[in-house]
Amino acid sequence: MDTTKRLVGLMKPYKWRIAMAMLLQLVVIASRMIAPLIQKSIVNDVIPHQDLDRLLPLCGGLMALVLMRAVCTYRRGLTLEKVSQNVVYDLRTGLYRHMQELPYQFYDKHRIGEIMSRMTGDIEGIRNLIAGGLVSVFDNLLNFVGALIFLTFLSWQLMLALLISAPILAYTAWQFRKRIHPAFVNIREQNAVLNTRTTENLAGMRVVKAFAREPYEFEQFEKDNRKLLKLNLKATWIWSDFVPLMELLSGLCYPVMLIAGAVLIFYNKMDIGTLVAVNGYVWLITNPMRQLANLVNMVTNAVTSAEKLFYYADFGAAIKEKPQAVEPKEFKGKVEFDHVNFAYGDTEVLHDISFTAEPGQTIAVMGATGAGKSTLTLLMGRFYDVSGGSVRVDGVDVRDQKLAPLRSHIGYVPQETFLFSDSLFENIRFGRPDADAARVENAADVAQATEFIDAMPDGYETVVGERGMGLSGGQKQRTAIARAVLIDPTILVMDDSTSAVDMETEYVIQQKLKKVLAGRTTFIIAHRISSVKNADQILVMKDGAIAERGTHKELLAKKGIYYQMVQDQYRDLKNVQGQEVTANG
Ligand SMILES: Nc1ncnc2c1ncn2[C@@H]1O[C@H](COP(=O)(O)OP(=O)(O)OP(=O)(O)O)[C@@H](O)[C@H]1O
Ligand SMILES: [Mg+2]
Repeated sequence: MDTTKRLVGLMKPYKWRIAMAMLLQLVVIASRMIAPLIQKSIVNDVIPHQDLDRLLPLCGGLMALVLMRAVCTYRRGLTLEKVSQNVVYDLRTGLYRHMQELPYQFYDKHRIGEIMSRMTGDIEGIRNLIAGGLVSVFDNLLNFVGALIFLTFLSWQLMLALLISAPILAYTAWQFRKRIHPAFVNIREQNAVLNTRTTENLAGMRVVKAFAREPYEFEQFEKDNRKLLKLNLKATWIWSDFVPLMELLSGLCYPVMLIAGAVLIFYNKMDIGTLVAVNGYVWLITNPMRQLANLVNMVTNAVTSAEKLFYYADFGAAIKEKPQAVEPKEFKGKVEFDHVNFAYGDTEVLHDISFTAEPGQTIAVMGATGAGKSTLTLLMGRFYDVSGGSVRVDGVDVRDQKLAPLRSHIGYVPQETFLFSDSLFENIRFGRPDADAARVENAADVAQATEFIDAMPDGYETVVGERGMGLSGGQKQRTAIARAVLIDPTILVMDDSTSAVDMETEYVIQQKLKKVLAGRTTFIIAHRISSVKNADQILVMKDGAIAERGTHKELLAKKGIYYQMVQDQYRDLKNVQGQEVTANG
C-alpha cells in the first residue's frame, strides 16, 4: 500500500497533465457509451420505418464519435508518454543524487551490477506503468462500471445475468496477483544477480584471463542466465494458466446474454433494438475481464520494481548530517580518538582506540594486514560511525560536524587507487575542479609525478582508461597523492600509498610533503620501517587495538612488536647483503 502511495507521489508534479489525459480518456469512454444507444435507435426507429432522413445523421454521428475517439486517444497517448518520461527522469536524477550521498555501508552491501539493474530495468517497469498501465486500469475500470450503469437502464435483468461470473473473476484475479508477485520479485532479484556477475566479470577480465578461468566464468554466467530463463518461464506459466480462465469467463457473457435476451424478447419484456445495444455494451464488460490478468501483471511488476527502488531511496539514514551540524572554529588538524570502538555490522574490528594527533604531527600507523589501520582512518572523515566512544576533529565530534567541510579538509590517498576515465589533469584536480594548471603541476611535483607525466604522449591531457589502465602501480599511486595534495588538506591520510613506489622516490616525496604541508597533520600507514621512523608518534596495531605507541626510539627501547619488525626487516637486509657477499666471493 505504501509503495503504491509513493508511486502516486512520483506523479504528483504532473497531476494536471495526468488529469488532462484522464479527461481525454473520459471523452473516449463516453463516446463508447453513446454508440450502442445510436445503434439501438437505428434498429428500433430507423429500420422499421425505412427512415433515410434519420439514418444519415445517426451514421454521421457514429462516424464523428469514431473520429473524436481517435483524436483523443492520440493526444492522451502523447501526454502520458511525456509524463512517464519525465517521471523516470526525475526518479533517475533523484536516485543518482541519493547514490552520491549513500554511505560506505551501502556500497559494502550492494554490488555495482545490482545497482545498475535497478537504475535501468526497474525504472523501465515504472515507466511502463505510467505510460500504458495507468490509463489501461482507468479505462477498463470506467468502461466496466459505465457499461454496467447503461445496462441497468436498458435491462437490469440482463445486467444481473451478465454479472454472474464477476465474483469468480475477482477471486481468480486475486489469486493470480498472489502467485505472480513472488515470481516477479524472483525475476528482479535474478536480474540483479546476472547483472552483477556480468559487470564483475568484465571489470575483472584481466584476472579471469590471467588464471585461464574463462570456461568457469562462462559456466557460472550460463547457470545464472538459465536460472533467469526458468524464472521468466515460470512467470509465463502462471500467467498463461490464468489467461484461458479469464477468456472463458468473459466468453461466457455472450451465450448468457443471448439466452437471457431471447427469453426476455419472447415474453415481450424487451425489444430487439435493446438487445443490439446490450450487445454493444457486452464488449465493454468482457474486455476488462479479459484484460484483468494483463493489468494485474503490469501493476504488480511496476510495484515490485518500485519496492526495490524505494528501498534504495530509504537507505542511508545511517550517516546523515545533523540539522544543527556545526563546523570547528578553525580547521587546524587536531585529531582525537577517545575510546573508540567500531564494528562492521556485528563484527567489532576496532577496540578501545585512544590517541591524540596534534596539528602538524606525523602519525604513523603500523600493524599486520587486517589489523584495522584503514578502518581507523575512515572514521576521521565519518565514512562510518563509531559504535562506541568518539572521534573529534579540531575539538568537535565528527558526528556533529557538517560533512562536506570536514571531508574537504582531509586529503585521502586511499589504499586502492581509483582513477576516472579522464585526463590526468582532471584526475589530479578532482577535489578542486577550479584549480589552475600551476596548482596541478605543483601538486604533481610534490608527488614526484611530473617526470612520468611529461613523458606521456599528451602530458597532463593523457586520458587514463577505465580504472586508470595504462599506468603502472607506482604511477597511479603518485597520481592519487597529487590529487590529495592539491586540495591543500589540513589532514593528509596516506594509506599504504607509497607501497608501489621505490624507496628513493618515497623519500623525496616525504621531504616535499613536509615542506608543502608544514603545520598539517599527516597519517602514514606503511609497512616499511623507513617510511615511518621519523614520525612523531608510531601506533602499532594488533587485532584492532593499539598494542604499542611511541617514537621510533622509544619503541626500539621497548623491545616489543615494533622492535621485532625492525629486526625482521633488518635481518632481511642482512640476508640479502650476505648473499651478495657470498656471490661476490
Ligand atoms: N567494508 C568492510 N566490511 C566488513 N568488514 C571489513 C570491511 N573492511 C574491512 N573489514 C574487516 O575489518 C578488518 C580491518 O580491516 P582494515 O582494512 O582496516 O585492515 P588494514 O589494517 O588496513 O589491513 P591492510 O594492511 O591489509 O590494508 C579486517 O578484518 C577486514 O576483514
Ligand atoms: Mg588497509
